[in-house]
Amino acid sequence: MQRGLFIVFEGIDGCGKTTQVKLLAERFNKLGQDVVVTREPGGTRIGGQIRELLLHPANGEITHRAEALLYAADRAQHVGEKILPALRAGETVICDRFTDSTLAYQGGGRGVDSEFLGCLNELAAPNVSPDLVFVLDMPPEVAMKRLVGKKSAVDRLEAEDLQFYKRVRETYLVLARKSPARCKVLNAQMTVEEVHRQVCNYLGGLSVEQL
Ligand code: TMP
Repeated sequence: MQRGLFIVFEGIDGCGKTTQVKLLAERFNKLGQDVVVTREPGGTRIGGQIRELLLHPANGEITHRAEALLYAADRAQHVGEKILPALRAGETVICDRFTDSTLAYQGGGRGVDSEFLGCLNELAAPNVSPDLVFVLDMPPEVAMKRLVGKKSAVDRLEAEDLQFYKRVRETYLVLARKSPARCKVLNAQMTVEEVHRQVCNYLGGLSVEQL
């Protein structure tokens, strides 16, 4: 059986990824295709516990490397328990964040060295890389305003300052420039419908069935 398609959405907090994941999954479903929708961190039961640990505002003393290792542990569980079995069964997987989040947040944001992070990503997800990554790009100033308007409480990562998010955004753009065939940058300041239309157009252009 042919391996399924692995699609990932990336971007800074508040960029609208989660909405786009949902809309794309609904689009596949409307066309009669089942998809596996998942996220990092927290795509599995164990990952849910790691997510709690990572994002709890009281865990501010976590070291940068320990943080990176926990994201990698979440990913190893996620890949082994959910992503790889689904892809091997020929299913399409749509994932909210994957390895590029580690390079952008822990690398660009925290300054952890990229060699260490590259090794971690490879250990957590050996030979598993997305077929397509949509980077929803938006200035952090705009994303932060959206987050504040939407939520009653912010988690540990969302509480980072603007400079942190500027570095994360810049790293995403650098990663996208390095892999233009795999990584598509979309302007996330367009309407939700317009971003969704561009996602579908792009997939359609790659001959993904009927999208
Ligand atoms: P979410 O709110 O988009 O689900 O993501 C949770 C937070 O985790 C978000 O602030 C980004 C962060 N994150 C990392 O710092 N490194 C990673 O590898 C992943 C997957 C997420």
